[in-house]
Amino acid sequence: MTQNTPTRVVQTIALAYANGDLHVGHLVEAIFADCHARHRRARGDDVVFLGADDCHGTPIEIKAAAQNQTPQELIADIGARHRADYAAFDISLDHYHSTDSPENEALCAEVYRHMQEAGLIDRRNVAQLFDPDAGRFLSDRHVKGGCPKCGALDQYGDNCEACGATYQATELAHPVSTLTGATPVIADSEHLFFRVSALEPIVRAWAQSGTLQSGVLAKISDWFDDGLRDWDISRDAPYFGFPIPDEPGKFFYVWLDAPLGYIASLIAYLNATGSSRTWRDDWGEGSDTEIIHHIGKDIISFHAVFWPALLTAGKCRLPSRVQAHGFLTVEGAKMSKSRGTFLLASDLAAHVDSDAVRYALLSRLGDFTTDIDFSARDVVDRVNAELVGKIANIPVRLRGLVQDPEAVHLSDTLLDPALWAECAALADDAVAQFHAFEPGQAIRRIVDIATRTNGFIQSHAPWAQTDLVARNAVTTQALCQFRLIAALLQPVSPRFAQRCLAVFGTEAVAWADLSTPVLGTTAALPTHLMDRLDAGGIAALFNQPATPKEA
Ligand code: 2FM
Ligand code: ZN
Repeated sequence: MTQNTPTRVVQTIALAYANGDLHVGHLVEAIFADCHARHRRARGDDVVFLGADDCHGTPIEIKAAAQNQTPQELIADIGARHRADYAAFDISLDHYHSTDSPENEALCAEVYRHMQEAGLIDRRNVAQLFDPDAGRFLSDRHVKGGCPKCGALDQYGDNCEACGATYQATELAHPVSTLTGATPVIADSEHLFFRVSALEPIVRAWAQSGTLQSGVLAKISDWFDDGLRDWDISRDAPYFGFPIPDEPGKFFYVWLDAPLGYIASLIAYLNATGSSRTWRDDWGEGSDTEIIHHIGKDIISFHAVFWPALLTAGKCRLPSRVQAHGFLTVEGAKMSKSRGTFLLASDLAAHVDSDAVRYALLSRLGDFTTDIDFSARDVVDRVNAELVGKIANIPVRLRGLVQDPEAVHLSDTLLDPALWAECAALADDAVAQFHAFEPGQAIRRIVDIATRTNGFIQSHAPWAQTDLVARNAVTTQALCQFRLIAALLQPVSPRFAQRCLAVFGTEAVAWADLSTPVLGTTAALPTHLMDRLDAGGIAALFNQPATPKEA
């Protein structure tokens, strides 16, 4: 494998809202991104993998009030739970931060100042619902009424759960404030608008420069054709967020400070590690750091239009890639609490080996935005047939063929150099697939090496060989190929890969060392590497009501 020039890479996962626990949908993205981060580290790149909680906005304020907590207490509790959930699945984040942080507040003020200086802020009056009893404007979540399209009752101010229509809160029939029960009145409020339309040529050129998947570009091209709309970035007090400098009673809309939270997480990371770099070394105009955002397809507009516009205004470099994925269904349907298929990350971590979950999910993931399914049957079948049956079994079955399993001396030559070359080529291809955000394809190559290795052992039938040297030649080749498999599984199932690499007394293998067969070395063969999954237990977990866990 050729040595690559190391690249500085900043990778992010979408910032999880701090009003609920992580579920398996969050895990899909985190595991996908983590696989890429681990691949890039094995490649020798200088990776900074970042996450944070998305803490501001009305739903968090409402949830905290419902639990008699301050928003700060709620986000501290949820933040700790999110960190624990990510850790349970070995998401190798270099830093996990919060959008409600001093770094982020300073950054929002800085970017806003640049926007003002560039004439990118407009003031416009917006008609909004005002609760006369509470003396405040109402957010979409603070008002309910009849859907203006289908008439369904008790709908929030932004969209109808019955017919899916989206609308303005002022269009609701017979609106009622959820705060006081009062009938709101329509009043004008001055809002600040970010003139995204003025940056359209820059955003369009960026979007067309290979930064987006083709399906994503096709989807957003219509928006460019229709002309980009300016963006309301202010909300009236009271609002859980950052006050807008010199604008009493106005706060930044959560979707302005949320993506800037990516950069705030980098700032906090650089500070925590005593780095001499500044955040603009990575995110400033002209930086050659590769910046990759992993997101779900529901937030493409924010990341492919608003975010590049915001970065442009803030004199920052634009993302190298926005890597979108589809939604996850469980047992063939949208996750549902009533059907018991709403899988919380903590429940999954308590009952299923994290390497198995990672393997099953990554097997289904690639560079596309179509939805993927997660089913008990698939997890059990894949893990038991491939990870346990085809891979973990290789060194275990060789144990009975050697004199001293704790110290097997590998011979100095390969019995079948042509087979080795085929496996090494598959390994190179697997690495290329990891690089192309195709972990499912990479796993297919890894399983192919395992299939060939098992076939090789079978065809040479070393158990029938009496000549120990001939037997050792089979063991040597099989173990060299097993080490390829073990190394390639590092981004997929890291703990399992580590146990496999321990056979060779190694903790990690860089891609540059992948294709060198470990001839002439010593290996210690294990009695066992991985348990088979219990089909009954997993099926029950996937079909039981999730444990109620309120923060
Ligand atoms: O959709 C969401 O879950 C948001 N909390 C994602 C924010 S990503 C970034 F922009 F902060
Ligand atoms: Zn409706």
